Amino acid sequence: MATMKAVQIHEFGDVDVLQYEEVERPEPQAGEVLVRVRAAGINLVDALSRQFPHPVTTGPKGLPYILGWDISGEVVALGAGARQFAIGDEVYGMPRFPGEAKAYSQYTAVPAEDLARKPQRISYEEAAGVPLAGLTAWQSLFDVAHLQAGQSVFISGGSGGVGHYAIQLAKWKGAQVLTTTSTRNVAFVRNLGADVVIDYTRQDFRDTVKEVDVVLDTIGEDVLEHAFEVVRRGGIVVSLLGQKGVGALGEQLAPRYGVTFSLPLVHPSGEQMAAMASLFEAGQLKTHLEAVFPLRDVAQAHQLIEGGHVRGKVVLTVE
Ligand SMILES: NC(=O)c1ccc[n+]([C@@H]2O[C@H](COP(=O)([O-])OP(=O)(O)OC[C@H]3O[C@@H](n4cnc5c(N)ncnc54)[C@H](OP(=O)(O)O)[C@@H]3O)[C@@H](O)[C@H]2O)c1
Repeated sequence: MATMKAVQIHEFGDVDVLQYEEVERPEPQAGEVLVRVRAAGINLVDALSRQFPHPVTTGPKGLPYILGWDISGEVVALGAGARQFAIGDEVYGMPRFPGEAKAYSQYTAVPAEDLARKPQRISYEEAAGVPLAGLTAWQSLFDVAHLQAGQSVFISGGSGGVGHYAIQLAKWKGAQVLTTTSTRNVAFVRNLGADVVIDYTRQDFRDTVKEVDVVLDTIGEDVLEHAFEVVRRGGIVVSLLGQKGVGALGEQLAPRYGVTFSLPLVHPSGEQMAAMASLFEAGQLKTHLEAVFPLRDVAQAHQLIEGGHVRGKVVLTVE
């Protein structure tokens, strides 16, 4: 039996449940490719799926469970019918979410259709930051809100994983971007292209943001309860926070303001990963890495993301 290193959990709990151990190396099934993972991105949902049986991800359905959804790496074997890639191709993506993708491994066998070629211009680490946060930004702004050139969008939490891609994607689309962040990140979000930056530690966003076409809220209830006051009638509020009861709040407020409310869940898309790859190649999209840890130090990466103040992304390198 061929083996590999992976980080898995045998029970839910604090970071000490993350076990770096030897497990069986998978074989690619039909439609799958075997990826030699070079870097794995960290998202808050990883930490939540570690802490408790998460209502969205498949973590609760079987232990032990190998966490992680964001991968970049190279294709080392092809399952039957996986014709999109050749051995040696560099790829990236968010396979199977919310099913088990096993990103925290040296190898993972995943559906080829969930991947795209990794942009050559960026490192494996920068590429591994992209999938879940980038797809969330892309799908929220373009598939859900149908953001158009000339429109305005208020993005709360512009310095986070989702926020920092959302600012860049909205600017690429030709929209005006207003965003919130704390004092230390004001210059950072301005450099990403934000037109109006509100320091949430000093100002109430309602004093500045008026009649926008779209709100993308990455923060939660505190923002959502006032988000409807700053969007025009007929506009849309998109919230990413499903687990904190914000769905009910949004459904309740939306008709009162004549606004659409949406609570999307990100889904894999090789096509959208390819579209973002073109933007990376053109230098129109960048990943900011706050920290990079080796796979075996995943506990530190989880503690950092749980702190709630990461700028950009945290990524694991897989030796
Ligand atoms: N529905 C979905 O499919 C989906 C997909 C992806 C993510 N999500 C959820 O969306 C949320 C955001 O994800 P993420 O990966 O972007 O998180 P993240 O990277 O951990 O966000 C951290 C950022 O939030 C900022 N922040 C914290 N409090 C803030 C406040 N009150 N106002 C403005 N900014 C604030 C921090 O900036 P400062 O340090 O400056 O405070 C930091 O840069 C998470 O809850 C995640 O679970 C949902």
